[in-house]
Amino acid sequence: MESVPPMKVEIIMKKVVLAYSGGLDTSCIVRWLKEKGYQVICFVADLGQGLGRGEDLSAIEARALAAGATKIYIKDLQDEFVEDFIVPALKANAIYEGKYLLATALGRPLIAKYLVEIAHKEKADTVAHGCTGKGNDQVRFEVTAGILDPELEILAPVRTWEFKSREEEIEYAKVHNIPIDVTKKKPYSIDRNIWGISIESGVLENLEQEPPEDAYLITKNPTAQASYPKYIEVYFEKGIPKKIDGKTYKLKNLISHLNEVGGLYGVGRSDLVENRLVGIKSREIYEAPAATILYSAHKELESLVLDRELSHFKEIISLKYSELVYYGLWYSPLKASLDGFVNQSQKYVTGSIKLKLFKGSCVAVGRKSPHSLYKKELSTYGKEDKFDQKLAEGFIKIWGMPYKR
Ligand code: ARG
Repeated sequence: MESVPPMKVEIIMKKVVLAYSGGLDTSCIVRWLKEKGYQVICFVADLGQGLGRGEDLSAIEARALAAGATKIYIKDLQDEFVEDFIVPALKANAIYEGKYLLATALGRPLIAKYLVEIAHKEKADTVAHGCTGKGNDQVRFEVTAGILDPELEILAPVRTWEFKSREEEIEYAKVHNIPIDVTKKKPYSIDRNIWGISIESGVLENLEQEPPEDAYLITKNPTAQASYPKYIEVYFEKGIPKKIDGKTYKLKNLISHLNEVGGLYGVGRSDLVENRLVGIKSREIYEAPAATILYSAHKELESLVLDRELSHFKEIISLKYSELVYYGLWYSPLKASLDGFVNQSQKYVTGSIKLKLFKGSCVAVGRKSPHSLYKKELSTYGKEDKFDQKLAEGFIKIWGMPYKR
């Protein structure tokens, strides 16, 4: 009898690339996905959140592997984050609801971009994240991934899994020998990167209560600060910050430096009850010393070099731009089109702004630019006045003419 060759049985596991933070949720997700039959590849994006600050990267890697990941990518994306996300937002003066400089919102599309890239490289047809079903971040991840590759499947285990509390997750991690440090109580939910920190939950959910000092991580208590101010000078070229006090910095280092200096003077705290995309109002506090300093300085410089029409119109653009960032529409055609406008508007945004940091405030006190539209001989009330006041009469007559009945 002819021998039949043994059948080759190949089990093809579905591959998934997971945005991994190293924390409890995403570590449990690794294991959970594995139990659902996935081969899990973890991706950690370093956006300046202080990876390796509390523990070294090998500990994060070890945890991912212990949880059941087959592979882990850890990528330092700080330069790309600063150049391609933070700078455009700064040029646009992007701020959500007047108080949030969008640190978390700006980071998400970049993380999603790499999730998609790694999925392609690994020939995975699925990506996953650890966001809850109530926040904005799930929207940002999924809308971005969907724009960059509409074919990809996206999993959000936290929206559907069986765990009802942090305790249950801790229990699950224990049972599966996932090395999680659960000794630290977690009073807040924190998201951090080089542009700022977002802090929510716990006692912050009581809107009537002032945030306790222990909620803040990088800013000192403003009221407890030195009774003398600190002056700093920021120099911009075409809307991009280049120097602090005459010293040239690489962008990433410039931001880190300002986070330190600003933090010492309690600059950059905000407390906002914001409108989330999913229709909920939520209270979040933010710390963004560098972002606050650069935003203030940049706006101040624009007020010197932009003409009135451009300046006023740009405020409308800023508002829309901020919404698009917040809403997860970074890779939308409208956002790309607004970038065209914003970049054009930065042609003359070169010059220096001197700021005074004092007990949590950050105020521009000096400005200069080779493109300044300020003409002292026109605005002065002194004897060097060159403004022809006789012309005003005709101007006012014509300006007011349409309104006379
Ligand atoms: N509310 C901010 C946003 O939607 C931050 C979200 C993440 N916050 C957090 N504490 N984990 O952009």
